[in-house]
Amino acid sequence: MTPLNFDGDVVIVTGAGGGLGRSYALDLARRGARVVVNDLGGSAAGDGADASPAAQVVDVIRAEGGEAVANFDSVATQEGGKAIVQAALDAWGRVDGVICNAGILRDRSFAKLDFNDARAVVDVHLWGGINVSQPAFVAMKDNPNGGRIVLTTSASGLLGNFGQTAYGAAKMGLVGLMRSLRIEGERSGIKVNALAPIAGTRLTNNVSDDPSAPKAPDKVAPIATLLAHRDCPANGDIFMAGAGWFSRCFIGLTEGWSMPDNVTAESLLANWDKVTDETGFQQPTSVIEVSEILNRLLEPR
Ligand SMILES: NC(=O)c1ccc[n+]([C@@H]2O[C@H](COP(=O)([O-])OP(=O)(O)OC[C@H]3O[C@@H](n4cnc5c(N)ncnc54)[C@H](O)[C@@H]3O)[C@@H](O)[C@H]2O)c1
Repeated sequence: MTPLNFDGDVVIVTGAGGGLGRSYALDLARRGARVVVNDLGGSAAGDGADASPAAQVVDVIRAEGGEAVANFDSVATQEGGKAIVQAALDAWGRVDGVICNAGILRDRSFAKLDFNDARAVVDVHLWGGINVSQPAFVAMKDNPNGGRIVLTTSASGLLGNFGQTAYGAAKMGLVGLMRSLRIEGERSGIKVNALAPIAGTRLTNNVSDDPSAPKAPDKVAPIATLLAHRDCPANGDIFMAGAGWFSRCFIGLTEGWSMPDNVTAESLLANWDKVTDETGFQQPTSVIEVSEILNRLLEPR
């Protein structure tokens, strides 16, 4: 197998002071990427700030002979996002990849939702993705080879989880960002994908320092690396990964049932099994393809 080297490509990893982001940053640097290690260094709930987590990861990378710079800005603001991307431009004059990974948790049942907590969660995850990927996307458009953007989603957003309505909404919002940004980036060679990791970290309350632990972040890192690499085989996709398991999650449409004239709620109910039958489901990749499906149904027979 040919090694996947980054040959000096510049990759930004947000939230890389610990957990998954740290594993991503170390794997990228060991493969010759020049890495911006961003981390605000707050608590798991996003309180406070501390420069040491990002600085320590940079120390490890440099001690191993790699190249990295630390950045301590918050992804939660537009200024922070700009500053994170600027750190890459200041250090190396370009950006080839960005892994938007920074995250916090403030779980609460919807009935008892604290709106300030919900806003903070959406600010870090959904706005964090926009704040960082937007200036990175603009910088990548100048690259002859485009770039790679990886947005971190979650099974909680894709599938649902009690107490995580705001977090889930933000994480699914990132899928929406990814799907449209993939279309906008195509002409410039920019590929955009979403990754739903599963790993033992402080967010899941089962941190382990053992890189061979069943759910070690290192067992997710290979797909983050691959999605950030020039040879990334995917664009516009969603992946789930944990414990060395890698799977594609997709959005499908059933063939459905149609009655262009005189459709009623009663006729719809009578045909509900056809609406939901998964046989022959389709995977349209854009709104244009959905319009094409609808137009075909409307063609006179
Ligand atoms: N661990 C899992 O099983 C799991 C599951 C689904 C999704 N995720 C997602 O993976 C990502 C990484 O999480 P993790 O499990 O490694 O947790 P973690 O707490 O170990 O890592 C998150 C990092 O993000 C940093 N961060 C938080 N807010 C920030 C901000 N405003 N600006 C910059 N940095 C900030 C934190 O300081 C921390 O180092 C998150 O987006 C999380 O939602 C994790």
